[in-house]
Amino acid sequence: MARPSVALPSPTDLAPRGRAIQLELADGATVTVNDDAYSDRIRCDHPVACAAEPLGRALIEAARQRHRGRVVLLARSGMRPGFEACGMTREATMPGFYDGREDCDVFGYAIEPGRGRLAEPAAVGEVDELIAKAQPARQRPTPPTERGATADAEGIATLIADTFQHYPTPTGNTAYVAEQIAGGIPFRVVRDGGDVVACASADLVRGACTAELTDCATRPDQRGRGLMQALLGDLMDDLRRLRYPTAFTLARASVAGVNLAFQRLGFVWRGQMTRSCRIGGGIEDMNVWSRAL
Ligand SMILES: CC(C)(COP(=O)(O)OP(=O)(O)OC[C@H]1O[C@@H](n2cnc3c(N)ncnc32)[C@H](O)[C@@H]1OP(=O)(O)O)[C@@H](O)C(=O)NCCC(=O)NCCS
Repeated sequence: MARPSVALPSPTDLAPRGRAIQLELADGATVTVNDDAYSDRIRCDHPVACAAEPLGRALIEAARQRHRGRVVLLARSGMRPGFEACGMTREATMPGFYDGREDCDVFGYAIEPGRGRLAEPAAVGEVDELIAKAQPARQRPTPPTERGATADAEGIATLIADTFQHYPTPTGNTAYVAEQIAGGIPFRVVRDGGDVVACASADLVRGACTAELTDCATRPDQRGRGLMQALLGDLMDDLRRLRYPTAFTLARASVAGVNLAFQRLGFVWRGQMTRSCRIGGGIEDMNVWSRAL
């Protein structure tokens, strides 16, 4: 059946990338999940108070009904057997994700067969080879970073919008970034003159006491100088001050710099999500990294 066409918001657009839908499971439970038309998937994060197998079946059915290409699920590892019984593929496991105590599995299920294969095998393979070399961090003076304030929202949004053709959150929108900062999400920036030339944030998963390090962008003329490693290192300290025991990231698997930056900072590669997220040029493969803080 023909896939319904989707009007894609630009990075500066405030429009939500997905919408919450409620799934009624076969055993009577109800779970709210994200119908993510932007990345053409059904996504479920950290389900509670439901059994794994009925949830897995409902997610697959919901994706089929809505013609979404893929299911993505992040859930406690204790639920693993039920999702495996549904034929889902475990793509990664992040140790201690939930309050430093319980692991989180990342599952995928390809409704459209191509979503179970890498989008860019050659580019991802080259990055995999660089990761396998596991070079230590380069010794260089650490560039100073600053905690982003609401006054930096425009500079951050401009850098994100200039960097990414597609982006899975509205971080290219100044009002959205200002709201995130005002709501306590840590952002960090490096400035050159008045301009924000590099930024990153720690998107807090408050219910699990962990955070996704994200919104990583360095202006092209400033890349390869260690700015991203400085930003991420200081965000890790911000999270330690919040007593968060772990951090993680979902990194574009075809982009060397972001994967190497996380590896240099002691993050461990936990797995790969195939054709999962619309970012950069299209729906891309994502590497999962995490570490204890
Ligand atoms: C990814 C990005 C944020 C990295 O920023 P950065 O400030 O250049 O990062 P850093 O300099 O701190 O670290 C990158 C590391 O990768 C290395 N690197 C980058 N490309 C490389 C390549 N092709 N081969 C080998 N090493 C490479 C750099 O030399 C550096 O390592 P070093 O510390 O040993 O010198 C930047 O390239 C960018 O904005 N890219 C576009 C946006 C993007 O894709 N963001 C990621 C979203 S998940």
